[in-house]
Amino acid sequence: MASTHGAAHQVLVASNRGPVSYEVREDGSLAARRGGGGLVSGLSAIGPDAGALWVCSALSDGDREAVRRGEGEAGVRMLDIPADVHADAYNGIANSVLWFVHHMLYQTPLEPVFDAEFRRQWESYETYNRAFAQALAEEAAEGSAVLVQDYHLCLVPGMLRELRPDLRIGHFSHTPWAPEDYFRMLPDDIQVRLMEGMLGADRVAFLTWRWATAFQKCADGVDVDRWVSTWPSGAPRTIEHLRDGRRTGRETLIGVHGLGADAEFLHARSHEADVEERLAALREEIGAGRKTIVRVDRTELSKNIVRGLLAYRQLLDDHPEWRERVVHVAFAYPSRQDLAVYRDYTTEVRRLTEEINSRYGTAGWTPVVLHVKDDFARSLAAYRLADVALVNPIRDGMNLVAKEVPVVSDEGCALVLSREAGAFQELGKDAIVVNPYDVTGTARALHEALTMPVEERAERTKRLAAAATALPPAQWFLEQLEALRRG
Ligand code: G6P
Repeated sequence: MASTHGAAHQVLVASNRGPVSYEVREDGSLAARRGGGGLVSGLSAIGPDAGALWVCSALSDGDREAVRRGEGEAGVRMLDIPADVHADAYNGIANSVLWFVHHMLYQTPLEPVFDAEFRRQWESYETYNRAFAQALAEEAAEGSAVLVQDYHLCLVPGMLRELRPDLRIGHFSHTPWAPEDYFRMLPDDIQVRLMEGMLGADRVAFLTWRWATAFQKCADGVDVDRWVSTWPSGAPRTIEHLRDGRRTGRETLIGVHGLGADAEFLHARSHEADVEERLAALREEIGAGRKTIVRVDRTELSKNIVRGLLAYRQLLDDHPEWRERVVHVAFAYPSRQDLAVYRDYTTEVRRLTEEINSRYGTAGWTPVVLHVKDDFARSLAAYRLADVALVNPIRDGMNLVAKEVPVVSDEGCALVLSREAGAFQELGKDAIVVNPYDVTGTARALHEALTMPVEERAERTKRLAAAATALPPAQWFLEQLEALRRG
């Protein structure tokens, strides 16, 4: 099918959350807010005239209004998927099933339960993925490259290939991929459906080889005879497609692109006036002469904020000499609050913070400073002054905070890093590495980080910053695009 639109696009990106969102102002006009993140800066690298289009979901009333009025940015097409279909696909399947499987978040004696409600939501996931596939099929020029993002859109590559076999289709996962035994919890037909969807791509890519390997093992483990994977040493790994037991000649390549931090942007942004202002306010809040342990996360189950607080509490017990001399600055920004389990987790983070502050705090010292209102400028200010950064997720595709802190840090910062974060592959050598479940081990790591000699800390920070910026967003994006076009 040729493009039905005049302006057919050469490069298309598809993701649930797009680069811009809208709010309806009191006077009825629309206010646009541009988001940040690797993909946004990556896509800008190919320039505004390159014929790129970003297809995303309308996520708010403001977004839906923008679609209705036909307003919106050039280069962005928002899909107004019915709110109930989107809620089932996004909250129900993407965030409560696929996110949980890839991050191993289920409390397995009681969860998961794949029942009629799950099946109903799965239908919405199919509908939602089909809406993307159809929009992409309409907008893409002959032979153009389509980069589909993340677990929200696993079925799009397969659906799009059926509509437009001429396209080069890539899928990129920003999350971990589940280990085989965990993936096998999904109903068998759903495992097959997910793999059929993903393997509709010419290339599937991940943030580290750990997740790429897990994906390939899951593909091998699915009980169908329509593909076979190859594990050549030194050559690209592929999954070859079969028909009647014979190779069709079509293959899905498996690749890895470790998204790095954007040094240029971070250096400039972290010295702007609003960051300076917040830096002064934070210094005041912390108090002179105190060390600072910083964490910045969405309030996300996989980020392990609660065990981080428990480790800090144990540090104050095991090393009372730190009392009054250290502050834990924890930024836990709201996320996925439509889900009860996220709301409960947020409540627990607040409760434990209050408990620590009332047990150890004194007239002049608040042991934990918790902020829950999203503020990027304040995050950058915290990165600048941190003595220690705590990044202890139980599982994480990459974790960009671990990469941003060493770039922004004013005087060097010791990094306490979970070995289960994708960033561990690149930063592990110069971080203090922890098992995220081991609270005692994390408390020890915090002590080690706080007592690291300043020269060593500065040296390590330099090396961490170099490793963290090895593949900046623009290059990360172009590398994927070239690899997809090359085949
Ligand atoms: C992860 C996912 C992204 C997602 C982000 C924020 O990093 O990989 O695709 O956009 O979380 O989650 P949200 O549900 O707010 O889009």
